[in-house]
Amino acid sequence: MRYFFYYKPNRTIEPHKDETVNQRAEQKLKKIFETKSALIPRVYKEQWNKVALYHPTGDVEKANAILINPEDGAYDLGNKINDLTGKEWTKFTSSWFVFNALAVDLKQEKELDSHIEDHPATFSPTMISDFIRFFTKEGMSVLDPFCGIGSTMEACKRTNRVGFATELNPKYYNLILKRTPEFKDNIFNSDAVLIPTLNIKNIDFCISSPPYWDILNRSTKDFEKKREQRQLDVNYSDTELDLGNIADYNQFLNKLTNVYLNIYRVLRNNAYIVIIIKNVKKGGQLYPLAWDLSRRLSEKYVMKDEKIWIQDKVGLAPYGYPFSWTSNIIHHYCLIFRKEEK
Ligand SMILES: C[S@@+](CC[C@H](N)C(=O)[O-])C[C@H]1O[C@@H](n2cnc3c(N)ncnc32)[C@H](O)[C@@H]1O
Repeated sequence: MRYFFYYKPNRTIEPHKDETVNQRAEQKLKKIFETKSALIPRVYKEQWNKVALYHPTGDVEKANAILINPEDGAYDLGNKINDLTGKEWTKFTSSWFVFNALAVDLKQEKELDSHIEDHPATFSPTMISDFIRFFTKEGMSVLDPFCGIGSTMEACKRTNRVGFATELNPKYYNLILKRTPEFKDNIFNSDAVLIPTLNIKNIDFCISSPPYWDILNRSTKDFEKKREQRQLDVNYSDTELDLGNIADYNQFLNKLTNVYLNIYRVLRNNAYIVIIIKNVKKGGQLYPLAWDLSRRLSEKYVMKDEKIWIQDKVGLAPYGYPFSWTSNIIHHYCLIFRKEEK
């Protein structure tokens, strides 16, 4: 029998076996399809013959959620943020996660262009896809102001979102174009601080990882030697506009803050912005970059949260041994803000 109605009598979602209830649910589903089509995500529309109505306590009249596979959870038609079911939503809301580079992403990058490995600090499109799926619906726009080799644009392509980006280094910019030509009109070889002057507006979500201050200019000799042997870049560029080349902490913090304050102007109201960053050590001292930036941006945005990204497959070095405490920093902060204009 095809069930049109599911509920949650105990801990699991189950079909309702009553025939009249199912008939009422079938009628209601028909009406939803006819009158609320704009609220139904594409995946459900495409498989409408498998969609059932859902209400936790079994009330057909009050039901406002749909499902395909009960194991995946139900999608609430009032969902204003994304296309996720309650179960998928909850999974993402953990305040920390472990993610290491995926061989499948690295393979895809290498196949695209042998120069892609030149970039010294990229993140994974698979990881960014999860953020994009949470903070947008299909078809919405996503901006990455420090786009590197275009991992965020690749994530947009995979999730059917529209990518917008700036990247200062022309070599990386060209790699982004090659990787995601479908967004070519939205990708700019520009200083990110100029975003309000570019053809970028009404952005639904912004996610990026800026230079972690001048960390690359202070890499270990071992890191530099290994990369130079393979003729790979050891920093992003040598230009002054590159935020990774600013040695003074306060000057760097001011410029970085400015970029994100400028982005406020191109975001739609209620858009989220995620910044992936670390606290950084220099000269035997920790500079709380993530916290300083949070404080500065909170003057304009509402800071909503932090989500901690842990890379647990990074080799640990005996820093400080045997004289003083020095950690191996293997976590990043994904800082979450929202533009909330009354
Ligand atoms: C941490 S990397 C981002 C990597 C990117 N998430 C990826 O996966 O490829 C930071 C990037 O910011 C770029 N950058 C530095 N200063 C910039 C500026 N003022 N405007 C735009 N991009 C800049 C660098 O060239 C570098 O590619």
